[in-house]
Amino acid sequence: MTEAELYTLYKRVYMPSLLHPPQSLKYYEEFSFRPDDIIIATYPKSGTTWMQEIVPLIMSGGDPASVETLPNWDRVPWLEEQRACMLNLDQRPSPRMFSTHFQYNIMPPSFFEVKPKVIYVMRNPKDVFTSSFHFYRITSFLVQPGPQSEFLHKFLDGKVMFGSWFDHVKSWLNAEDEERIMYISYEELIMDLKDSVVRISQFLEKSLDAEVIEKIADRCLFKNMKQNKMSNYSLVPREFMDQTKSEFLRKGIAGDWKNQLTGTEAEYFDAVYKDKMKDVKYKFVWD
Ligand code: A3P
Repeated sequence: MTEAELYTLYKRVYMPSLLHPPQSLKYYEEFSFRPDDIIIATYPKSGTTWMQEIVPLIMSGGDPASVETLPNWDRVPWLEEQRACMLNLDQRPSPRMFSTHFQYNIMPPSFFEVKPKVIYVMRNPKDVFTSSFHFYRITSFLVQPGPQSEFLHKFLDGKVMFGSWFDHVKSWLNAEDEERIMYISYEELIMDLKDSVVRISQFLEKSLDAEVIEKIADRCLFKNMKQNKMSNYSLVPREFMDQTKSEFLRKGIAGDWKNQLTGTEAEYFDAVYKDKMKDVKYKFVWD
């Protein structure tokens, strides 16, 4: 398939057409949120799957039933994805959990009226680039990344799925009603998973005892999640996602960009980052 066939431009953001046909985007536009919905918002490759494991475990008080029986895409479905309209989401009991890769400014009208809670996960963009580069290679619904230097320019120009990392992060950091949004980074999860689980559970107003927190953090370790077939994408057919080339749960570390980018590429990345992020006050862990 050609690039034009693989991507749809929706509100000036590239989306993989196969996953987001027009009827799915319409479904999302008309979706009715509830005030107690929980939304996991991310730029792709920032820790979505990880949060799709952590949040259901917190909300179930540590009961692993849902993470053991439901694939992550049904457990915390993406509202913009074609599966969403088939899942009878309006019949799910509260509190419902959803994912989205949308930028803040293109979220649907009901989101701004109802104001559900959001957990926004961010990751060092050089690691997002690295993870994306490997992920694009294994998927048949994305434009192949081509040589790394070429993909780097596409990534920095936002000519990739869900658009520019810079626009995405800035849109969510500039969101109104910030108090209903928890900002957390992949790097914080890596540095102290247990403490992160505590903070997320506090944000979700779910009180858990120390033993449960310990169990949740243990289940969500990279090595343990990798064994969970409901979260490691092994249920996806190989023609759609070929994990013999690179696994979805690939390395699970912070700073892998050092093994991926050349010195010149890293310098170029930093220069673009500095320019695009010059007005951002938020203190990122990786800066
Ligand atoms: P890498 O490719 O760097 O390994 P997303 O779910 O948003 O697509 O992000 C995928 C990235 O998150 C992958 O990064 C994946 O390995 C990482 N990831 C998923 N679960 C993780 C976990 N429990 N611990 C650390 N990293 C995890």
